[in-house]
Amino acid sequence: MQSFWQTLPRPFTVLAPLDGVTDVVFRQIVTEIGKPDVFFTEFTPCDGLLSNGRQRVEDNLLFSLEQRPIVAQIWGHKPESFYTTAREIRERGFAGIDINMGCPERTVIRDGACSALIRTPELAAEIIQATKEGAGDLPVSVKTRIGFGTIAIEDWIGFLLRQQLSALTVHLRTRAEMSKVQAHWELLSEIVALRNEIAPETILIGNGDIASLGEVHEKYMQYDCEGFMIGRGVFANPWVFNPAIDFATVSAEEKIRLYLHHISLFERQWNGRKNFALLKKFAKTYLNNFSDASMLREEVMACRTIAELKNTLDKLLSSPVR
Ligand SMILES: Cc1cc2nc3c(=O)[nH]c(=O)nc-3n(C[C@H](O)[C@H](O)[C@H](O)COP(=O)(O)O)c2cc1C
Repeated sequence: MQSFWQTLPRPFTVLAPLDGVTDVVFRQIVTEIGKPDVFFTEFTPCDGLLSNGRQRVEDNLLFSLEQRPIVAQIWGHKPESFYTTAREIRERGFAGIDINMGCPERTVIRDGACSALIRTPELAAEIIQATKEGAGDLPVSVKTRIGFGTIAIEDWIGFLLRQQLSALTVHLRTRAEMSKVQAHWELLSEIVALRNEIAPETILIGNGDIASLGEVHEKYMQYDCEGFMIGRGVFANPWVFNPAIDFATVSAEEKIRLYLHHISLFERQWNGRKNFALLKKFAKTYLNNFSDASMLREEVMACRTIAELKNTLDKLLSSPVR
């Protein structure tokens, strides 16, 4: 059966999962001002979803009807938990399920999850199999890095391509490189060739350091991979998926109004359930590229309540910001 991955335009764009950033609220902002072709949820722990504290984890799986197609990203280290989680996700209207095999954080690696799976391919294969069994008709994909300590295209990416995945996202860095070096786009040709040889039906998505749609098109011409995922680029420019908006021309007022809109969506969605301080993370997203921006960010960072934050931004709107 054909999955949604096969029906996307070429090239297609994907909003990366960014834990603590691309929640249902920020995805709504992105949806309204410039929509990607595919959304991902933040990564969601299988074992958290199966625990008593599931409410907090379930928040990660919320999405609005406009935020589609959306892929639920899950992580963990026990195949049976992936099976149960995939069965549950199947009922929630997601277009697909993605397994995180790339997160480099020590806390997840300690348990043998995420990028640690690069070192335990047998377990990785069991997890993929269990997820597929639980997922039923939903396509299963993986998001990973190009190796753990060293680059391992043949060994690791080749291995994953033998698992009959619907799609594979490759963040072009090793776990050891974290985000400290430039993404190795020069390796994408080799990865595309390997995919063409081993699993021509698996859709490939490249990821790392993309800041504009212009770069997506350049890279598409150069490497012939189908999809391109943007993460921090959207945190820096929420209009990044909109071909008609040149970020350099977006006024300070428009950015501040969008920040206020984000805050009102946040209040409505979480109703006090999430700490308002999370909103301060977005000061850099909305208050940038104009001359008083850094001073204004300092004012925002000093706010102690959501009301103070809104007042500060309202005040900025009525004063001549440049
Ligand atoms: C704050 C933050 C949170 C992230 N959370 C996730 C996540 O939940 N799942 C995931 O697969 N990758 C996560 N990543 C990695 C990104 O999805 C992406 O692979 C990485 O940032 C490189 O792409 P970029 O240069 O376009 O940002 C996260 C990265 C950042 C900076």
